[in-house]
Amino acid sequence: MFDINEIREQFPILGEKVYGKPLIYFDNGATTHRPRRVIEKMDEYYYKYNSNVHRGVHYLSNKCTDANEEAREVVRGFINAASTKEIIFTRGTTESINLVAYTFSEAFLHPGDEVLVTEMEHHANIVPWQMACERKGATLKVIPFNEQGELDLSNLDSLITAKTKILGIAYVSNVLGTVNPVAELIKKAHAVGAKVLVDAAQAIPHIPVDVQALDCDFLAFSGHKIYGPTGVGILYGKESLLEQLPPWHGGGEMIKTVTFAKTTYNELPFKFEAGTPDFIGIIGLGEALKFVSEIGMSDIRAHELALLNYAHSELAKIDGMRFYGTATEKSGAISFLVGDIHPFDLGTLLDHMGVAVRTGQLCAEPVMQHYGINGLVRASLGVYNTEQEVDVLVKSIKRAAAMF
Ligand code: ALA
Repeated sequence: MFDINEIREQFPILGEKVYGKPLIYFDNGATTHRPRRVIEKMDEYYYKYNSNVHRGVHYLSNKCTDANEEAREVVRGFINAASTKEIIFTRGTTESINLVAYTFSEAFLHPGDEVLVTEMEHHANIVPWQMACERKGATLKVIPFNEQGELDLSNLDSLITAKTKILGIAYVSNVLGTVNPVAELIKKAHAVGAKVLVDAAQAIPHIPVDVQALDCDFLAFSGHKIYGPTGVGILYGKESLLEQLPPWHGGGEMIKTVTFAKTTYNELPFKFEAGTPDFIGIIGLGEALKFVSEIGMSDIRAHELALLNYAHSELAKIDGMRFYGTATEKSGAISFLVGDIHPFDLGTLLDHMGVAVRTGQLCAEPVMQHYGINGLVRASLGVYNTEQEVDVLVKSIKRAAAMF
């Protein structure tokens, strides 16, 4: 049973006040809060067991190593990967994408090849590919989106061609909230022999993700967007493909043997995990995934979708409201402008009423360029948000707008 009060009770921060007003938190797209059990799990490991993983014969090291590897199994199950060899711990989505952009381009990208992204990508799924293309003499191509914020697939056959080596695509847009038809695009890409990296940063907290059903080659997400700690993320990659990629960072743990003449590399997933990982963050992420799994991702999706629809219909009643992103399939984020109020001004006034939203270019300048605007206000939902909070958001926007 989805019990919103019970869920909210697990997040002590939701009881905080800002400027004397109860906190209403609608900036979950930037980062979510952590439930008590995640914080307590990490505390427990710091207080009782802290010791480096994969390196010791002693009790504490084994305890942390076991918990680190148990978390890997939790992640594997959560996204339905075939093997824990396919689960690489990183610092976050950005690092996961950079890892693939660098190593994949080293192995497979040549002059004249093409890399495809979409116009609604976060900078983290644009810039690493631009850097790779520059290094390798390849070309970056872009799938555009239409006024509703849905991908325009009318010219897809001229964009996904034999020259395409990899497609980088957001499962859910962090600005528009659009849920992209990734499964369909993966099929199209595979038909020409291209690989696909799915940026699932904004999908993972909101919708069930199954890497085998999607048949994606790579998938990236961050712990802190799914009620886990900052500084830890996941790269999923198909084992056969990860085997073909060269290592990325060099150092301890990613090696099998080192001599000055030659170094051989560790097996998966450790080949891509140089240095001491944030093992207590990893343990916290495992706990966060258990938390959402116990609620059920389908129930989370249903709750958030109902809230998203409610928020859209209530916000639409505000004079001068303009939505950016009205796709049929949406999740998580509602971005908007009201009249000619600058997004920073609106965000600042809302903040003083206790309502946290994100403002600005939202790490997606090409989306702003598409609409010819300087920035947006974004309300992004989490599992703990309620209709009452949406009502406060709407009332606060009306109050703020009346001041102009
Ligand atoms: N990428 C995060 C966001 O969209 C930070 O807010």
